[in-house]
This record gives sequence, structure tokens and C-alpha cells, in this order.
Amino acid sequence: MTSVIANQAASLNKFEKLKVEKDGLEVRQELEHFAQVGWEIMDEIDRDHRLKWLGIFFRPVTPGKFMMRLRLPAGLLTAQQMRVLAEIVQRYGEDGNADITTRQNLQLRGIRIEDVPDIFRRLKAVEMTSIQSGMDNVRNITTSPIAGLDADEMMDVRQLARQVQDMITSGGEGNPEFSNLPRKFNIAIEGGRDNSIHAEINDIAFVPAFKDQQFGFNVLVGGFFSAKRCEAAIPMNVWVAPEAVVALCRAILEVYRDHGLRANRQKSRLMWLIDEWGLEKFRAEVEQRIGIPLATAADKDEMDWDKRDHIGVFPQKQAGLSYVGLHIPVGRLFADDMFELARLAEVYGDGEMRLTVEQNLVIANVPDSRLEALLQEPILEKFSIAPTPLMRSLVSCTGSQFCNFALIETKNRALALIRELESEVELTRPVRIHWTGCPNSCGQPQVADIGLMGTKVRKEGQTAEGVDLFMGGKVGKDAHLGTCAQKGIPCDDLKPVLKNLLIEQFGAHSKS
Ligand code: HEM
Repeated sequence: MTSVIANQAASLNKFEKLKVEKDGLEVRQELEHFAQVGWEIMDEIDRDHRLKWLGIFFRPVTPGKFMMRLRLPAGLLTAQQMRVLAEIVQRYGEDGNADITTRQNLQLRGIRIEDVPDIFRRLKAVEMTSIQSGMDNVRNITTSPIAGLDADEMMDVRQLARQVQDMITSGGEGNPEFSNLPRKFNIAIEGGRDNSIHAEINDIAFVPAFKDQQFGFNVLVGGFFSAKRCEAAIPMNVWVAPEAVVALCRAILEVYRDHGLRANRQKSRLMWLIDEWGLEKFRAEVEQRIGIPLATAADKDEMDWDKRDHIGVFPQKQAGLSYVGLHIPVGRLFADDMFELARLAEVYGDGEMRLTVEQNLVIANVPDSRLEALLQEPILEKFSIAPTPLMRSLVSCTGSQFCNFALIETKNRALALIRELESEVELTRPVRIHWTGCPNSCGQPQVADIGLMGTKVRKEGQTAEGVDLFMGGKVGKDAHLGTCAQKGIPCDDLKPVLKNLLIEQFGAHSKS
């Protein structure tokens, strides 16, 4: 395999070359050295690229202050883990904070390379890892955030998500078998009825389906976003029992690793290979890898509910327990918030928390007798269980405050604009607004009712920050992607545009 890649790479792009010259995982051995010499002296390719294999991201916007992306399969987090992360942000992250991401994950900011060896020791002590969370690796495995709590779920898929992660990362140690994919890769597993995972935007999505009365999953493949092309995942015409999920992931990853297109990074995601081969050939290759006949898809899947956002108080399937979904505005947390959330989870629940793809947080296993006291806690004024309709569904990527790809500032602007809009219009239902700072679409504008994608515009002869407007994304049952409806709106002119849209298309009333 390596020689095939090496031959291809000789004439290929800089990322293929840097992967062949030295696998990203190899920088593990050099961490102590990097910590000693510091970020200015380090080899630039190691610093800017290979460290991402360990989940450490050099941020050109804040040189010397790295971002660390964890892996939290199924968005699961204990109070103890949250406290360790809060300590890291507080102790090592100068002006640090953490962001909940749209893959149920956390990114920590302000990390110095000098501190990384110690941070890794601390993470390991609480069974956490950031391995293979960036570049051409499989990203955080997502599931319903209420897996195991949901009375209506068909399967608690938490263990499956963990097993898939362990296979890909060798139990968190790092796995060179899957550290050189042609491109990033997303896997999601749904055991409930409401498509909490956005199945349609993953490279592999397992969606619940019964075949011959047996529970299992229909498999969707090839969903992805990129600057030039966005595609919803398509049915692979495969049904698998839960026991075969890990093996199927392995087989698909091996096929993608060995045959995926590597010449042009704009055309390397799994769907491009499926396009080139056709679905029949792709399916046949995967079947050959897995070594057993694959069943054809069940006639229908069981994702037949609209998507829930899990904000509020809901009874669990375990009698006498509830989960409490807190709204975390644009997913941003500071160390004090993290300590406080850990305390709440421990005092009122059993310490367990979940993160959602809408960048919010669920406290699990709260006995009914403790609910009222939890709801009186002052931090619930900041992290509400009943946010206003626009705030409720607001999602934003990192934006130019920390990300060099972003063409505009997003998180702070998104919050300010929502507050202004909510002071001017009355909404009768939530409207999902997603912001993303550049065409890479990390903030997923295509899944929103109203998506805003950062761009540069000309205004009064000057270059200014602006957005392209996306409309029509539908999530949950019959999900489909929204498309660009209007280009190049200067951010300064955005408020009246959104106000009109909300009134004309989403039933809002002007307050004035
Ligand atoms: C060339 C394409 C892309 C580039 C260069 C890129 C770059 C980045 C960067 C730099 C970050 C971290 C920013 C920070 O917080 O400091 C990020 C985060 C993220 N991006 Fe992208 N991105 C790309 C495409 C995408 C696409 C297509 C998606 C899918 C919607 C996506 C989803 C995410 C998510 C979910 C995160 C948060 C981390 C996580 O949970 O994995 N990105 N991206």
C-alpha cells in the first residue's frame, strides 16, 4: 500500500508528499523536543501540519497559541474529564477558552507547545485523547446526544461509536493503518428516530432499519461539504447488523485509503471515488474487503421524526431520571463555565454530560427530586433551558477571531445580530441560522433554514466583510441541503435583509 501511495505522491500535491515523507503520527516521538525548542524553532511542516495528527493546530491568527481538538465519541464527557479540560484551559491556555463543535466535540484554545506533553499526560489519566482528530483522518464519531437515555431509541449506540473510534485509533494510541487517508472522513451512527446526527452530511452514516424483523442499519455513503461541491450522502444499498458496523467501517476505510483519489484535494472526498467507480463497483469492492456477502438495504429506515434539539428538561427511559439540555450560545465556554458545568453534572446528576451537534450541552441522569434545585442554579441564566427562538438554534464556526481561513468574524457577530433581531421581531417558532466564515462550510450553512457564509464584498469602493445567503436546508426526516439564494450581502446591511426574511418567510412579526 505504502509504495502505491509513494509512487502516486511523487508527482502530487504538497499534502500527499508531506504524508509520505513522514507519517503525521510520527511526531509523537518528537513532542518533548518540540516542547523544549518552542514553536518558533520547530520544523514548519511538523508545526503547521503534522501536529494536527495529534490534534494540535498551529493557528496563524494567534501564533504560539495552539488549538487542541479532542475526540469525544458520541459527545460523551464526564464531570471529571470536563474539570481536567477546564484546568488545562485555565492553567495552560493564555486567554484560553473551549468551543463545542458541530461534531459533538471540544476545541481548546490558547495552548502552548511547551505544555503539550504534560497536557497529554493529564488527558490520558482521564481516558481522553486528541489523536487523529485533524487532517486526513477520521473525525469525531457522532451519535444522538441522548443515546442510552432516549425512551424512543431503537439502540443505544454509544458502545458502537467507541468501538469504531478504538478500531480507527488503536484505542487512542494512534493507528498508522488509517493515518493517511486521501482526505478527512466523517462517520455517524444513529440509534434513534430523529436523525440527530445529520446523517446526510457524513461520509458513512448508519441509520436504523429493520430487516426480517432484525434491528440493524441501512448505510449511507459519500455525504460531504467543500468549497466547490456539496453532496448529501446516498444509499449504499447495504444493511448491516450492529455487530458488523466496525468491520464495515474498516472495509470502507481500507477501500478509500487504497483507491481514493489523491491528485487534487478538492476532489478527494469519498464521493469522488464513488462517482468514478459507480456505486455497484464501490459496493462490490467493499464486499470483497469485508469478506462476507453484504445484505441489501432494508426497504425503509426508521428515521421518521423531525429533528429534536434536546434543549429543556426531558424524562429519560430510566424511570425517575431526566436529562437537561442547556443552550450554550455559539458553543463558547470559558474555564469558569466548564468548572461550573462539571459541578452541576456531579451535584445533580451522576457526572455525565453530552455535547450536541448544535453546540449545546446535556446533563444526564438527574433524579426528579433534584430537578427543581438544578433549575434554580444561577448559571442557567447564561446557559438557558428555554432560550429565545433565534438564539436557540444559532450555530457558528470559529470565525476569524482564531481561524485563518475565515473571511469574516462569525461567533461574536452572530450573537450580536441575533440579539438585535430579537429586539425587533417576534417569532412564533425557532429558525435555524448557521454562520460559517468561509466556503469550507465548517458551520454547515447548508443544513440551516438560513445559512450565512462569509465572503469579501465591495461596499462604497472598499473591501468589506459580507455573506452569501443560503436557504432551504432541512434536517431530520427527509433531510436535504440548502443552496445559495443570494450572494455578497455586506454584513453591515444584513440586519434588514434577515428581518424581512424572517417576516416574509418564517412568520415573524415586527415589534415596532
Ligand atoms: C479545505 C476545507 C476545510 C478547511 C481548510 C477547514 C478548516 C478548519 C479549521 C482550521 C478548523 C478549526 C478552526 C478553529 O477553530 O481554530 C475547522 C474546524 C471544523 N471544521 Fe473545517 N475545514 C474545512 C472543511 C470542513 C468541512 C467541509 C466541514 C463539514 C461541514 C468542516 C467541519 C468542521 C468542524 C465540525 C470543525 C470543528 C472541529 C470538529 O469537531 O471536527 N470543515 N475546520
